[in-house]
Amino acid sequence: MSGGTADPGGTAAPEAARLGEAPPAGLLDAGERMTREELRAHQLKHLRATLRHAYDNVELYRRRFDAAGVAPEDCRTLADLARFPFTTKADLRDTYPFGMFAVPKEKVRRIHASSGTTGRPTVVGYTEHDLDVWADVVARSIRAAGGRPGHTVHIAYGYGLFTGGLGAHAGAERAGCTVVPASGGMTARQVRLIQDLRPEIIMVTPSYLLTLLDEFERQGVDPRTTSLRVGIFGAEPWTEEMRAEIERRMDLHAVDIYGLSEVMGPGVAQECVETKDGLHIWEDHFYPEVVDPLADDVLPDGESGELVFTTLTKEALPVIRYRTRDLTRLLPGTARPAFRRMARVTGRCDDMIILRGVNVFPTQIEEVLLRVPAVAPHFQLRLTRRGRLDQLTVRVEARPDAAPEQRDAAAAAIARGVKDGVGVSVDVEVVDPYSLERSVGKIRRIADLREG
Ligand code: DLL
Repeated sequence: MSGGTADPGGTAAPEAARLGEAPPAGLLDAGERMTREELRAHQLKHLRATLRHAYDNVELYRRRFDAAGVAPEDCRTLADLARFPFTTKADLRDTYPFGMFAVPKEKVRRIHASSGTTGRPTVVGYTEHDLDVWADVVARSIRAAGGRPGHTVHIAYGYGLFTGGLGAHAGAERAGCTVVPASGGMTARQVRLIQDLRPEIIMVTPSYLLTLLDEFERQGVDPRTTSLRVGIFGAEPWTEEMRAEIERRMDLHAVDIYGLSEVMGPGVAQECVETKDGLHIWEDHFYPEVVDPLADDVLPDGESGELVFTTLTKEALPVIRYRTRDLTRLLPGTARPAFRRMARVTGRCDDMIILRGVNVFPTQIEEVLLRVPAVAPHFQLRLTRRGRLDQLTVRVEARPDAAPEQRDAAAAAIARGVKDGVGVSVDVEVVDPYSLERSVGKIRRIADLREG
């Protein structure tokens, strides 16, 4: 199959050479060309319409607004949004499956669902217009990552109820790319496809990319020699250290994509390849706030807290002040000056381990262990209870080329790094290469083995 793709316009090579650069002005869409003032006027107009749409068509919102004594018209400025009540994942679960849909069933073209670790899944829906907007924001994200018409995009996010695969797919087609809908799994075949179809771009979770990297090496292929030039990684937290690891081992630009099903799916925010400085939130469709996760107050831009979204253009499932549980902060726009950025997500409130009073996120452990050369980026966190004390064990694989006698020193270095950087004592086990379970999608870092 290799080399068989026709290139009638002769554009593939010069376009590929431009990967890593900002899109030319002509490739920016109308939303991206707005000034901050135009954007704010657009946001207020659509915010008021969304509040009205939610109030008129969703019983839960009507009851909540009435109980809080606010009406859609009370939103006269963007700051007035803070007077409206929050929405949570529990609201979606309690009204399962369609209770928060704001359009009649026959207007819904697509359903997705998030599995949810406990209880009922969360069901989300899209009208034709919603699917159109979603494809537009993902296409915009792909261009911001360096993708151009004519590029081939290998999509290894799972297809199905998860929004990753189909969301990325429609966006890549909208961006004028050729899509390889690989989905997750069948890792050996993925490597073969990448070798043969020569995609410039891959969209995948960072943890599954690591699984693919192992497979390249197992098949004796140097991952730096593939056609891939850009990786668009998201759906789970990852770190700057992981970016450096992936870019070093694959010789590509690694950029961050963020999103969640309740708000849309992938493409709510995207990092621009030319700056790699956090993710621009596509604020013409998704209005962000950051709140204190405990006190619920809105925090000023720059302060860390829980990210909250209100959709501005969604029809089937408008969400008002949806608590994402993701921790980040808002920053001013750079590469797209009108849109604010969000810093890389440090973790979810739900994934925070409280160890003897200290808050610990898996990303903090990832940062520490990726600085230790003898260990691989494959790790798991095991929570156990010894007597009345919780204990955290970091299990991390040795790199295949690390000498056995390096393991003790590596374990000690990680324990010291976590103690100094995070402030807690952990046990560290350096285990054999390839012995920990590999991810095929979103990885679960924490194994909670505490009783009760
Ligand atoms: O994960 C949508 C998605 C697919 C995003 C593909 C990016 C790429 P959910 O399954 O609903 O949707 O999970 C959403 O995943 O609240 C975050 O906790 C986490 N998440 C998503 N993107 C990132 C990211 C998709 N770039 C939840 N960094 C969110 C950190 C992320 N966490």
